[in-house]
Amino acid sequence: MPGHRVESDDGWTTVTSSGKRRGRRAPKVSSNGSKRNVSSASAIAVNVVDEKRAQRTVDAIRRHIVLFDGPCKRMLTTIKEAVAPRCVQQIVCFGLGSMTASDSRNVHSRLQLALLITMARTWDVAAPSLCAYDPVFTATDKRVLDTFGIATLEGNNEGKYPAREEEDGITLFYMPHCDKWLYSNLLWANWNARSMRRIVIIGNSFEAYVGALGKKASPNDCVRLVQPYAVEKELRASFSPQDERDRPKDAAAAKLAFSDTSVISFPGSSVDRAQDAGLFKCRPDEKTLGIKTC
Ligand SMILES: C[S@@+](CC[C@H](N)C(=O)[O-])C[C@H]1O[C@@H](n2cnc3c(N)ncnc32)[C@H](O)[C@@H]1O
Repeated sequence: MPGHRVESDDGWTTVTSSGKRRGRRAPKVSSNGSKRNVSSASAIAVNVVDEKRAQRTVDAIRRHIVLFDGPCKRMLTTIKEAVAPRCVQQIVCFGLGSMTASDSRNVHSRLQLALLITMARTWDVAAPSLCAYDPVFTATDKRVLDTFGIATLEGNNEGKYPAREEEDGITLFYMPHCDKWLYSNLLWANWNARSMRRIVIIGNSFEAYVGALGKKASPNDCVRLVQPYAVEKELRASFSPQDERDRPKDAAAAKLAFSDTSVISFPGSSVDRAQDAGLFKCRPDEKTLGIKTC
């Protein structure tokens, strides 16, 4: 049945059925920029703008993906070196941010997502072993993630996610620009030698964190406790001078999207040292910090 379209300021389009229902109360259309659109038996809400935004985001991410096979290829090599000789069996991504948000930060989330997709393809990791969570994800973000075969985790585990049990495989925790407490919670959830050997983290430099903290760190800060046993490699988006001239916008955005980012791993010998030093005998107190968004 043909419908009548009412376009609101926030881009929501309400399609009301014509004919029989004429004379009934008009369906409410949100006008305050929020996504509260009231549906009723007489109204079918179709978010046309959201659909277009999702498609534009998918297209932009596809354009970004080629960077990791071109100017930023070195980044993937760095990650592979940190993982070798093992392979990645699971990729868990925290703190990506909203890649469909209409502010300038979404370009970083999109670039970071493009690398996530590239890594998943490299090791052939698929959902449910390929998953992401950020409390700011919208339905449109989840749709974009789904398009690329990435599952969205339900519920906020505050980063307390244990690594997979398989002997040879790595769980790669991809946490670009997360707050320190989230890395600390992740380490807390993997506070034993077996798990520590099986995780690789891509995130902010632990060395830089510890350097900045000095003696102020809390005794329960897992980042500070494990940092002496971690091996870090800087993950820099370094474009060649020619690539930088050809793609100045991409180069500038990628530098910021991966600023202060490292691949952090715990090789067997380092974990043995940590164990000998009694690091895992006593697990720090658990922290429950609630949702923090930036
Ligand atoms: C500093 S922002 C980084 C956003 C994006 N990756 C970037 O580089 O612009 C930290 C992100 O962590 C997310 N975050 C907060 N609590 C979280 C949780 N419990 N699990 C996963 N992500 C969380 C925030 O919502 C936010 O998007």
